[in-house]
Parts: sequence; C-alpha cells; structure tokens
Amino acid sequence: MGSSDEKAGLTRRGAVGSLAALAAAPGLATAGTAHRPRKAPAPFLWGTATAAHQIEGGNVHSDFWLAENVKPTVFAEPSADACDSYHRYGEDIALAARLGFNCHRFGIEWARIEPEPGMFSMAALDHYKRVIEACHAHGLAPMVTYSHWTVPRWFAARGGFTQADSPDLFARFAERATKHLGDGISYASTFNEANIQRIAAILFAGGGDQLRQALTGMIGACAKASGSDRFSMVLFEPAERVEPQMVKAHHQAMAAIKAGPGSFPVGVTISMQAVEAVVPAAQARAEALRGALYGPWLDAAKGADFVGVQTYTRLRVGPDGIVPAPQGAEMTEAGYEFRPEALEDTIRYAAKVTGRPVIVTENGIATNNDARRIAYIDQALAGVKRCLADGIDLRGYVHWSLLDNFEWISGYKQKFGLVAVDRTTFRRSPKPSAVHLGQIARKGRP
Ligand code: BGC
Repeated sequence: MGSSDEKAGLTRRGAVGSLAALAAAPGLATAGTAHRPRKAPAPFLWGTATAAHQIEGGNVHSDFWLAENVKPTVFAEPSADACDSYHRYGEDIALAARLGFNCHRFGIEWARIEPEPGMFSMAALDHYKRVIEACHAHGLAPMVTYSHWTVPRWFAARGGFTQADSPDLFARFAERATKHLGDGISYASTFNEANIQRIAAILFAGGGDQLRQALTGMIGACAKASGSDRFSMVLFEPAERVEPQMVKAHHQAMAAIKAGPGSFPVGVTISMQAVEAVVPAAQARAEALRGALYGPWLDAAKGADFVGVQTYTRLRVGPDGIVPAPQGAEMTEAGYEFRPEALEDTIRYAAKVTGRPVIVTENGIATNNDARRIAYIDQALAGVKRCLADGIDLRGYVHWSLLDNFEWISGYKQKFGLVAVDRTTFRRSPKPSAVHLGQIARKGRP
C-alpha cells in the first residue's frame, strides 16, 4: 500500500484490521437455563465470517465511511463499493452453501438500520431479513454480529461509546433489530472483538508519534466535518474511555436480544491471540499481558451463551515485554507470524477461563499464496480436533473470511478470503482453499 500510514509504522495493522435445520440453534442452550443433558449432539458449525462494512459497499452513514474519506486519513483507500455484497448477498450465500458450509456469519449494519438518531429504516431491516431468509433457503445457520466496529456517523459525532447514555442507544438498536429479525437468527454476538482497543493499543504502540499524529489528524477532520468536538471511533479509542460503557452496552443489548422474538444463543466475540513466554522468567509477564489483552471481556463472556474466539497468531513475551517473531519465522501478509497452532491455545484458554461453550468465530490468514492458506487451515484444524478429543465444548469453526474484502486501514491489499473478488466486476472466484475447507465441512466433525 505504500501510503503515509505505512510510513507511520502501521506494518502490523492487519492484526486489528488485520464466522435451516440449524435455525433453532440446536444444542446450545441459552445462559441461565439448565443446559445439559442435550438430547442429540448438534451438528458442528462450519462457516465463513464476514462483516457488513468490509463487504457491503456504500456504507455512507457510518463513521468509517467518513474517516476513510477525510484528509488526513490513516486509511490506505476508502471502502467504496467493497464487494458489493449489499446487492450480491444472495450469490455469496449460495456460494458458501455450495462449498459445503452450514453456517454464515455476517453483520447487520447499525448505520444503515438507524441512519439518523431514532429513525429506523424499515427498508434496511427488510434487507437483512432477506439475507437471513437466503441463509435458511440454502441450509446455512445465520450467525449475526450486531456490531462489527462501525457505528452510525451521528453516534460517533456525539462521542460514541465514550458517552454515558451510549449503552441505551446501542440497546435500542439491538431491540429494534431483534424485533424485526430475531425469528430467523440462529446465533448472535453483540460486539465483534469487544476487546479491540486493548489489542490495538499493543499493536499500535509500534507506530509511535507519527501514527498518533495521523490518527489525531483524522479524528480532528471527522469532528470538523460533523460539527462536533467529540467524534469517537471504537477502533481508535483508548480502552479506558469506552470500555465501561461497552461492557454495559453488551449486557443491555444481550437482554434486548434475549427479549426476542427468537430464542438463540447470544455471545460476545473476543480477539484472542496465543501468548507465549519465551523464557520461564517471562511467565509472569506473559500472564499480565493476557490480562491486559482481555480486560473485563472474559468475565462478560461468562454470562453469555458462548464465547466467540478470534485468533490469527501468537504474541511472544520476553522478560521486558513483547518480542518479535523468531528469526526466520514465516510471516503473513498482515505482518505477523504464521502461527496456526495459536488457535488450539486460545480455544483451551477461553473454555477454561469462561466455562462457556466456545465457537471459533474467526480464524484465518492474509496471504497471496493460497497453498499457505490451506496449510494454515489444516494446522489450525488439527488443534481443533485435539480440543474436541479432550472433551472441550467447542461448537464450531467459522473461517475469516468468505471473500477478499476491505481490510480496514490496510484497504484491499491483504487477502484473507477463500474467494477472490474482482475489484471492478465483483466476480467471485473460489480459491482451492475454499474447496478444501468446504470438503472438510461436508464431512461433519473435524
Ligand atoms: C476482525 C476482522 C478483520 C480480521 C483480519 C479481525 O480482527 O474482526 O474484521 O478483517 O481480523 O484482520
């Protein structure tokens, strides 16, 4: 991408920029209910994950759209038409089903559903109803993310999740969306990678002053464009400014979603990377880093129906803090280590700490070499298999991502997709890895 953000030291940005028979969510009893014994083992979920802003295109009422288009910006390029999935969702869902999956993770976009405060778009809600119906028509369990980082521009302008009343506003959106869509949902999560500010703080630290200045310039430009001095984006806030409100928002939204209609498991997804001490003396430091990565979110997950584990790599910790990948280690296009084994570690950790069922809601690799994607998948799934063999309550594996898509501040350069998308014609071309994972999915258990 070679833009100013690259120079600003964003080389590790990929880590932050960087899941109808199942309709009744079989086998995953909801929090607060007696949930064992289950009658029959539920089918293992095999899916691909997407996010509204990264694939839909034309998300003009969102905070990210504004940030991508102001000057200065830290975005390599704007999302623009993305994969045009707002119109081509039927094609995407049919393709995922043809490949062999039984689950489809996607986001509903708050900025489309509530483009102005209190103004709910029936057309947008109907759109997502059609997406859900398309999933069922193709035998895919719809797994819905209520918030994948983007918020309405008006919400960002009034201070986003820094504001005390933000949980009420998010819960109001969750309630309205669920009223319209709940009947068809199979699984839901409130926030995608609720702990993202904590990961970002660690990864952006390498960007230094230049990055801080670039971000400040961009947020300042967004504030100016919205006539506000409080403009706030989830991805770029220090955790302490937004987290208390986000934790409340998660709980309030979860209650709103649980009010129905529909009766399906609701979880929260967490960015979880393996944390490894490189020498025994660094063990305490590694534990402290784990604490810093997750903050209150593993606790929040204890009250949810499942914890969504999202893993891409590992972090290595020495006595003085995070150390680089070992000399000669294979690196992905996202700038971090190729480390599929990390997933086994995070599944085990999430299951142990939360005591809740686990669903891998994201796991994947940015690469232009699809053979390496296949190798990554096979090695990650070997860990999944060991977890299942050890009796860990793991309910599914949802790969990031179905499509090559808008990778946040990196733009379109990083390819996480099982399916390539032509940037001009939007033609979808499944890669060998798509067929490979689809064949595994068809077999049922890993
Ligand atoms: C996010 C995705 C992102 C992926 C790859 C995850 O952190 O949920 O939106 O595209 O990582 O960077």
